[in-house]
Amino acid sequence: MRDYSDITIESDDKGVRVIRLNRPEAHNALRTHLLAELADALSAAQQNDAIGCIVITGSETLFAAGADIKEMAQLDAVALWKDQRPLHWKSIREFTKPVVAAVNGYCLGGGFELAMHADILIAGSNAQFGQPEINLGIIPGAGGTQRLVRTVGKSLAMKMVLSGEFINAQQALAAGIAAEITQPENTLRCAIQLAQKIACKSPIALRLAKELVLKSYETTLEQGLDAERKSFVFLAATDDRNEGISAFLEKREPRFTGQ
Ligand code: HXC
Repeated sequence: MRDYSDITIESDDKGVRVIRLNRPEAHNALRTHLLAELADALSAAQQNDAIGCIVITGSETLFAAGADIKEMAQLDAVALWKDQRPLHWKSIREFTKPVVAAVNGYCLGGGFELAMHADILIAGSNAQFGQPEINLGIIPGAGGTQRLVRTVGKSLAMKMVLSGEFINAQQALAAGIAAEITQPENTLRCAIQLAQKIACKSPIALRLAKELVLKSYETTLEQGLDAERKSFVFLAATDDRNEGISAFLEKREPRFTGQ
């Protein structure tokens, strides 16, 4: 395991790796170094067949307060243009294994955008979500104007992006941002349990399922259905599909190998 400073990594024996944002002194602000470590950790997890699902979390009281404003203050337009951060965001975006975000407390700006990169979000009842960039005279820069509207619709997305107002966990659940709400002390456990349930499935089926759901943002219904059909057929050529069906018929648990 690499020696990270801004994140910590912990893996269990059920295929789950927890990546924890770890800059408590700066409310887990996403400085470039943290994003680089996150991208590196995901790249390592991508190459490790023992990892089936990732959980990204902060602490019991806070997920992340956004991009590092103190770092951002040093960057003019040219520096931002040459910036490495979009490359790190690209690595995060292109990670193909399932990701669950376990979110307590403030989840703001780039922190919220990071949480929206996850496939499933479990929120503690103390979670607060917001895109407060407008208060700084800027706008979201890691997909906030694009992903939020696709999740919650125009009116709420506009309200959050234009006013900078936060929403709470209940509102996030109602708006489809969170899949589930739990007590803050249970958020991580709940996310890990879900991740374990996911990690034991066929990695090939998981990868295709994730890819197809995300593709639905980009395609027409007909194109999406076509891609789904082809993937469905492709899976019939895998050992995992035979194993899954045999296990069901033999009334036993499947043992997927990723073949
Ligand atoms: C750098 C931050 C920070 C941030 C907090 N801190 N947020 N440092 N970048 N985003 C630091 C504070 O300066 C302070 O350090 C310490 O963390 C504690 O913060 P406080 O403000 O004292 O805490 P509190 O009163 O509890 O208020 C919490 C808060 C507030 C509501 C979350 O910190 C806040 O509004 N933060 C900024 C949120 C924001 O605007 N996010 C969007 C950023 S722009 P010191 O040293 O003073 O103790 C963005 C663009 C994304 O995300 C672009 C793509 C990536």
